[in-house]
Amino acid sequence: MTNHDATLEWPDGRSRTIEVREDETILEAAERNDIGLPFGCRTGACGTCTGRLLEGAADDALAHRRRPRALKDRHLADGYVLLCLASPRADCRIAVGSSVHTELVDNPWK
Ligand code: FES
Repeated sequence: MTNHDATLEWPDGRSRTIEVREDETILEAAERNDIGLPFGCRTGACGTCTGRLLEGAADDALAHRRRPRALKDRHLADGYVLLCLASPRADCRIAVGSSVHTELVDNPWK
C-alpha cells in the first residue's frame, strides 16, 4: 500500500501534513488524525468538503473514487477536489476550510 503526504492549509495560515493511504480519502485520513474538515453528504453531491489543489494538476495528484457530481468540469480544471471522494496519487498541498466551497459559487449579493 502506497502512502502520500497531504498538506492541508487553512485560510488563517495554519497547516498540517498528514499521511494518506491510496485506499482512503483525504477526509478519512484527516478524521483518523483528529482533524475536523467540513463535510455533508460524503457522496460527492453537496460540495461541502471541497478543497483546492495548490500546486500540480489535480488529475496527477488525486483520483476521485466516483464522479464528483458537485463540481463542474471548469472547477476540476481549476484544481478543485471533493475531499470525501479524493485519494492521493502523489504528495500534495490542498487549501481546505469552508471558504473554499464558497469560491465555487458566484454571490449575486456582492
Ligand atoms: S461531503 Fe458532500 S460532496 Fe463531499
